[in-house]
Amino acid sequence: METAEEVHFDPYDPRVTEDPYPFYALLRAHAPVYRNEERDFWALSRHADVVRAWVDEARYSSANGNSIEPVSWGPNAHKYASLLAMDPPMHTRVRRAVTGFFGSRGIARLQPAVHTLVHSLLQELRGRDSAGSLNSFDFIRDFADRLPMRVLCLLMGVEERDHARLQALADAQVRRDPGAHDAPVRAIEATLELIAYFDELVRRRRHRPCEDLVSHLLAPAPGEQRVTGEEIVAFLNTLAAAGNDTVIQLLGNAWYWASRHPAQRRRALDGDIEGWVEETLRFDPPNRFAARTLVEDTVLHGVAVPAGARILLLPGSANRDPAAFPDPHRYDLSRKSPDKVSFGAGRHRCLGARLARLEARVALGAMAGLVADYEVDESAAERVTAAEARGFLSLPTVVRWR
Ligand code: HEM
Repeated sequence: METAEEVHFDPYDPRVTEDPYPFYALLRAHAPVYRNEERDFWALSRHADVVRAWVDEARYSSANGNSIEPVSWGPNAHKYASLLAMDPPMHTRVRRAVTGFFGSRGIARLQPAVHTLVHSLLQELRGRDSAGSLNSFDFIRDFADRLPMRVLCLLMGVEERDHARLQALADAQVRRDPGAHDAPVRAIEATLELIAYFDELVRRRRHRPCEDLVSHLLAPAPGEQRVTGEEIVAFLNTLAAAGNDTVIQLLGNAWYWASRHPAQRRRALDGDIEGWVEETLRFDPPNRFAARTLVEDTVLHGVAVPAGARILLLPGSANRDPAAFPDPHRYDLSRKSPDKVSFGAGRHRCLGARLARLEARVALGAMAGLVADYEVDESAAERVTAAEARGFLSLPTVVRWR
């Protein structure tokens, strides 16, 4: 049996990338306030602790950002990570300005476009060479990867001719080489190119406004919050970073886990799409951690943690905590899990949760409407290697159409 000293957790360890859940179980049981000297972080893994930290924003600050990569961490993080790297009052002002677009009415307006996009992607897949009723494709590269950034482009008011380019840039921004501890040059270049693109978009909308997010943020109605051009650019960049990869990973994780659980796959393909989306969010969420900076000396479970400490909140671990979810390692679409923390909690709770759920329900629902059954070639599947993300780059699949 491990002691606290024997537990070792490093999000960059390839074994953790492959399967973090046994590591999380050790953390919860033996080192609920875990210290990693080498990478200079502390980690909270129990559901109650993760939730408490997420909602105690005065003690757990976002001012240095929520990522531990050296290039992203520090007091300037809000310049490209926007809300994710802000505390009040800046956070309150910017979040108020953008919130309306992500509420039920704003997202409902996007629904028909999401349906159209999904159906055109599926038509392409069905139209490929197939052997009888069988067809093979890569669920990520040929389907999941091609949806979320295009939806964000519609939301942001990006012209259609630029969608493919922005999708490639958004993907490049978050790709990491296996074992790398910081963003590669091509990711930094992609971020700079995205920022230049959004800067130009803001300039264009300033001169020629239309009915879109940018124009609205530039000219708020009386009484609405004002944001600067720079803040809009940072916010758009954050959407590309936070609202693309996460949805791809959610779709891929749903596809993968249902492929491994035949009874749950049957239930999913027979139409329990909501259960499929919600249980995947709990069982294997796309974000592996959110980082915070501790504002004052704090004692947690008898451990003194100093002000300035960098704390990782682990949603994947919280979602598998037996103290919060019965039989947490069972993938069960009939489960109700309102307490999962896949979208965070408190004032930084995911702004795009409604949109993410809409995309996942439409994409998986349309797939289930066409697919009688499928199999993933696990030997050829490729995992995302970034320490912060959990999902797949490639999921080769054979489907039997209905
Ligand atoms: C399944 C998909 C998604 C997951 C699992 C997810 C998860 C999260 C999490 C855990 C946070 C909190 C981060 C923190 O506390 O530091 C967050 C914040 C955020 N998410 Fe998402 N997200 C998803 C999709 C999206 C989408 C589609 C968008 C955009 C349309 C989006 C935009 C944002 C923004 C702007 C924030 C910052 C909110 C703030 O700091 O006030 N996310 N997300």
